[in-house]
Amino acid sequence: MPKEDIVVGLDIGTSKIAVIIGNTWQGDPEKIEIIGVGTAPSDGLRKGVVVDIDLTTAAIRQAVEAAELMAGVEIGSAYVGIAGGHISGQTSPGVVAVAGEGHEITQADVDRAIRAAQAVSIPVEREVLHIIPQGYAVDNQDGIKDPIGMSGVRLEVYVHIVTGAVAAAQNLLNSVFKAGLSVENIVLEPIASAESVLTHDEREAGVVLADMGGGTTDVVIYKEDALHHTAVLSTGGDHVTSDIAQVLRITPQEADRLKLHKGSASVDLVDMNDTIQISTVGGARRPRFHQRRDLVEIIQCRMEEVMTLIGNEISRSKLVTPGGVVLTGGTSLLDGLIELSEKRFPFPVRIGYPTPLKGLTDRVHSPIYATGVGLVLYGAMLRHKKPQRTFIKGNNLFEQVLKRMKDWFRDYF
Ligand SMILES: Nc1ncnc2c1ncn2[C@@H]1O[C@H](COP(=O)(O)OP(=O)(O)OP(=O)(O)O)[C@@H](O)[C@H]1O
Ligand SMILES: [Mg+2]
Repeated sequence: MPKEDIVVGLDIGTSKIAVIIGNTWQGDPEKIEIIGVGTAPSDGLRKGVVVDIDLTTAAIRQAVEAAELMAGVEIGSAYVGIAGGHISGQTSPGVVAVAGEGHEITQADVDRAIRAAQAVSIPVEREVLHIIPQGYAVDNQDGIKDPIGMSGVRLEVYVHIVTGAVAAAQNLLNSVFKAGLSVENIVLEPIASAESVLTHDEREAGVVLADMGGGTTDVVIYKEDALHHTAVLSTGGDHVTSDIAQVLRITPQEADRLKLHKGSASVDLVDMNDTIQISTVGGARRPRFHQRRDLVEIIQCRMEEVMTLIGNEISRSKLVTPGGVVLTGGTSLLDGLIELSEKRFPFPVRIGYPTPLKGLTDRVHSPIYATGVGLVLYGAMLRHKKPQRTFIKGNNLFEQVLKRMKDWFRDYF
């Protein structure tokens, strides 16, 4: 199959690396087929950020090899996700007078308005990663998605500006380069997840997506089909595991086993008489027995905290979200999570599985693959818009990344 048809999503998570190979059949995003999936445990990240390049590179290589073997193709480049506690978003307005004759709005006016909106103070150690126009107003008439060609004297835009720590992106990209791959683009991970699990109607109505991973919970809020709020919460499934290990005084491995096989986020769903068996280190002592409720209380407590933090973000955004809350990422697989979150939020809650595609779609039918599949969908969409492929190179990394991201977001919205 032609190389141009292959789109690869590379999700570098705190718990696992996932490589998803998609065949786009000559760039047609409607016909995407998943042809290869590879995963590897990830040990080189803390809270979504690369802290050990060599470990990350080795895990990327392992996941790439597995995916290539399954697909029977060799890959050379990927769309890579970026996340971590260093990411933050803010919304800012920009206003300009429409310049041209007849006051017909042109691309140049839109660009000036977006530049005006960027004139917010950004701390020196942070760089602008994404500039996402949310909507325009022409002479106080708001709710306009594409103002080009309209007439007016005053053009106003609201943009969502995502910033991140420069060093974190550099380490992420270096890990990918060292694994022998080129980077076609980098995409904020929760934006990729949103692409694969949210419907257009949800995004139009207003919806909260929480990608509950191992190291972090990434929250994005969409309204009128545009991103309006971004936040990364430094709590994920790994905190649940370490809570269990600490309180029950067991190893993290045993705590993880209990979480996956006996865990729940809702004490109400647990039978009072249920017990769990806990193995001791090395099996030296006899196994202990506990009430399952003890385990579930630990999990519920941490999950209530996460739900409160998500609720705080919804309040902070001041947005109305009748589309409800969609939970995705590995931690969303916790039993009883919908019951717990429906008590916390006054709207419907569902678990976000990636949209079914063609090919090995069963293999990625899990919230764990929401970001990886989303990266393939995003990549396919970008290829469709700009069939000429370009890559981020090793030198002048940041100028290139920033320019490409800005260009890309302008193209997209
Ligand atoms: N069935 C399950 N029940 C409960 N938790 C689960 C289940 N399966 C996976 N998890 C948890 O999900 C987390 C991993 O999720 P995911 O693969 O989405 O994370 P990641 O993308 O690697 O991390 P991050 O996005 O935070 O960088 C781990 O904490 C794991 O224990
Ligand atoms: Mg993740």
